[in-house]
Amino acid sequence: MVSKVSPKVNPYEVEGKIDYDRIVKDFGIKKLTKSDLGRIKRLAGELHPYLRRGIFFANRDLNWCLDEYEKGNKFFLYTGCGPSGPIHLGHLGTWRFTKWLQDKFGVELWFQFTDDEKFLFKNKSYQEIQDWTYENMLDVIALGFDSKKTHFLVDTKHAGIMYPEAIKVAKKITFSTIKAAFGFKDSSNIGSIFYTSMQTVPVFLPNVLRNEKRPCLIPLGVDQDPHFRISRDVVEKLGHKKPAVLHSKFMPPITGLEGKMSSSFADHAILTTDTPKQVKKKINKYAFSGGQPTVEEHRKLGGNPDIDVSFQWLKYFEFDDNKLVQIEKDYRSGKLLSGELKLILIEKVNSFLAEHQKKREQAKKQIDKYLYKI
Ligand code: TYM
Repeated sequence: MVSKVSPKVNPYEVEGKIDYDRIVKDFGIKKLTKSDLGRIKRLAGELHPYLRRGIFFANRDLNWCLDEYEKGNKFFLYTGCGPSGPIHLGHLGTWRFTKWLQDKFGVELWFQFTDDEKFLFKNKSYQEIQDWTYENMLDVIALGFDSKKTHFLVDTKHAGIMYPEAIKVAKKITFSTIKAAFGFKDSSNIGSIFYTSMQTVPVFLPNVLRNEKRPCLIPLGVDQDPHFRISRDVVEKLGHKKPAVLHSKFMPPITGLEGKMSSSFADHAILTTDTPKQVKKKINKYAFSGGQPTVEEHRKLGGNPDIDVSFQWLKYFEFDDNKLVQIEKDYRSGKLLSGELKLILIEKVNSFLAEHQKKREQAKKQIDKYLYKI
């Protein structure tokens, strides 16, 4: 049922040069078409730059979800965070887009913090994971989700409502399915084998709690799709609808286009808590450049924005298409130097983070408003 993708892309490993066409084929997902984008634009009133730029690039059952929406059966959004370290710009891209969906469609968001997952998979203590759960919540709140329409589920804290549903899911998944999807071995701990059941529960929990039949739409980075590839079949067997999914490409690490930005190497990711100085230093020192070795060569031959990390990251921060196109043109022609391109990025990221960090501080008083009350 679940085929393995090489180079590796799954929730626990993203390695090598990512071939998105191959992922589409191997995962059995569908690229977003012009007509899909046109439909989103018609319903939302505009297209988010991440859709225009192909950052969100694929889906499962989006059209069914929008059919229901047009019939008056609003979907709810579901996404999540595995709290084991600091939040970086890659996570934020997925969640900023989720916030846009919430605003444009006026829908609820169920946001799962998988503290159980990270305790089981990472070499960190239970307390460390709890501390990261708190820190990560601040980043999510700082993005401005509507507190009246957003519900945080923390797996160990909401176990009372989640566990009865998780065992129903678990009973329908075999060890061999999980092994094939994630490459687990006999030496893997038994909690990790069970875990996909917990990530499945929010797909239908809101409907169980309220006795409703709303569609679920999951925006995610494509590494998380394997969980749902398994659970889509299972939830149907339990009498629920399969969730729709919107898939994002990975924001690349600072060192180049292979793999994904991850906080495992703090120097290679921009963290939401980085100071302006740290941002400047990381980008100037590490950001892989598509420029030429000398200014003279650069002026003559031009740079290559397609492999230049600063340019690729700008796609996440410069929302004005005209400006982005001009920067691309100037870089290709050699008019804009690598150092100048980096400076544009540094200013964009730092002004975003200044605002984010202010809201992150204010979020400390707001957590209770977001936690789902049992
Ligand atoms: P986690 O904490 O690894 O990542 C949270 C979300 O951020 C996405 N992401 C990225 N997207 C683009 N570029 C990157 N460099 C990048 N790094 C991370 C992830 O794909 C994910 O969407 N098990 C999950 C938590 C979870 C979840 C969910 C995620 C629970 N339920 C439902 C998505 C949907 C996890 O550990 O995510």
